[in-house]
Amino acid sequence: MTEVLTALSHQWESAVATTLEGLRDVTVTRRCADVSELLSVADAGLGDTAVVSSDLRGLDLAVVKRLRANRIRVIGVHPADDEGAERRLRQLTITATVAVDAGTDRWQQSLEDGAADVDDLEAALRDGAGRDGASPAEAAAAAAAADEVSGWRPAGAVAPGRASDEPRDAAVLAVDGEVPGRGTAPRPGPERAPVVAVWGPTGAPGRTTVATTLAAEIAGRGVEVLLVDADTYGGCVAQTLGLLDEAPGIAAACRAADQGLLDLPALSRIAPEVVPGLRVLTGLPKAERWPEVRAAALERVLELSRELVRVVVVDCAFCLEDDEELSYDTVAPRRNEATLTSLAASDVVVAVGGADPVALQRFVRGLQELGTVPSGEPVPVVNRVRSRAVGSRPESRIADSLLRFAGLTSVRFVPDDAPGVDGALLAGRSLVEHAPDSPVRHAVADLATGLLPWTAPPGDRRDRRDRRGRRRRLGAGSRSSSAVGT
Ligand SMILES: Nc1ncnc2c1ncn2[C@@H]1O[C@H](COP(=O)(O)OP(=O)(O)OP(=O)(O)O)[C@@H](O)[C@H]1O
Ligand SMILES: [Mg+2]
Repeated sequence: MTEVLTALSHQWESAVATTLEGLRDVTVTRRCADVSELLSVADAGLGDTAVVSSDLRGLDLAVVKRLRANRIRVIGVHPADDEGAERRLRQLTITATVAVDAGTDRWQQSLEDGAADVDDLEAALRDGAGRDGASPAEAAAAAAAADEVSGWRPAGAVAPGRASDEPRDAAVLAVDGEVPGRGTAPRPGPERAPVVAVWGPTGAPGRTTVATTLAAEIAGRGVEVLLVDADTYGGCVAQTLGLLDEAPGIAAACRAADQGLLDLPALSRIAPEVVPGLRVLTGLPKAERWPEVRAAALERVLELSRELVRVVVVDCAFCLEDDEELSYDTVAPRRNEATLTSLAASDVVVAVGGADPVALQRFVRGLQELGTVPSGEPVPVVNRVRSRAVGSRPESRIADSLLRFAGLTSVRFVPDDAPGVDGALLAGRSLVEHAPDSPVRHAVADLATGLLPWTAPPGDRRDRRDRRGRRRRLGAGSRSSSAVGT
């Protein structure tokens, strides 16, 4: 027996409910007046299927996610021949849709076998097996549309909001007179674009510097990349890259996702290309706006981002505490849900720590904490390495400490280069553009090759570290195991 909960706008309520009540093996357990009633009934464990209308006030991604968390299947009702309403339902990840004038047979079929099982849908979304849990044919059509959209460029390939008056063009990315990687196409990458989360503990170890340099490096190799500023404590990617951040991209994308209005063209508008190949989803200009970035919406944004570009880099905040454990209200916004969602969606986590004694201690504790939350494989990177902070031969000292206290056998190092990094910040450009010969840029380029070898131009597969034979692994740990999509 299927136990149905309905939440339909008033003009359809009685017609649909009457049809449902006349079906075989179906009971309408509750006819809810609105979303709040639907959620409280679902939370109370009633019903296994929710039938909601596309124009239901308050219906958003978070509501759909909460219904699914209660293991309730969701079926969307839309006006006949209203493609917009049907699309909106799909963008809310409701793949089982029925027109309001559908007959008994169609409803019976939908309730019996037409609707995607909750687990299948979740798995499909996670694996990217089908877009929005769509059928293979629908997924193929959506893929074709995505390819079309990926070729989309904002006018002049310069974000309209750029603070700098200097026009940017492909030459801006030139390194030593040439654009790296361009003309020498990298190997085809994995089918599903990887998400690289850049995280690090408190104390500003250099997450944003590593994330922006990594994204710019990958773009400079001719691989389309989206840099997402998901740091809800201190988003500053826009400022770092000289963009005006009046309209935070991440809030706009999450709002659109929540309302079922985010599709690839919308995402590509909200995340414009600021230098060739590099799109940016800017962060919140004020930390107090953190409740605008909710988990369900961000998950959807990251999922769509994988379709828009070939690599997604996310600049995350430091804090991993899950306030859900501190609160009985499991649906209240959680302070760190943007970070936890980004880590959970990631294929690999570039874990950045600082190179002084205090930062190293935080790094060791932070890595332990990172191990307790769902996330991609961590790749430890120690940034701002300098002998002033830890003594001579800083890399081997740091490596010794991290082996001893964290059991790390494979660590990457990024040197301190204040003139290069400060100069790039002042210019509002990435290091790749501003100081391509900075040792920081070279170290991050090696990191890019280690993580995503397919992005490296042919003949440049092995990173400099390997070429120089300076293998800083302390044991049998293998960096190659961190490579994504190989
Ligand atoms: N390798 C480096 N060499 C020199 N300076 C660096 C390096 N990496 C980062 N910095 C500087 O350190 C400071 C902190 O870097 P960044 O903003 O990247 O850290 P963060 O971890 O993102 O911090 P926040 O907590 O503010 O988000 C900045 O002033 C940056 O310019
Ligand atoms: Mg930062």
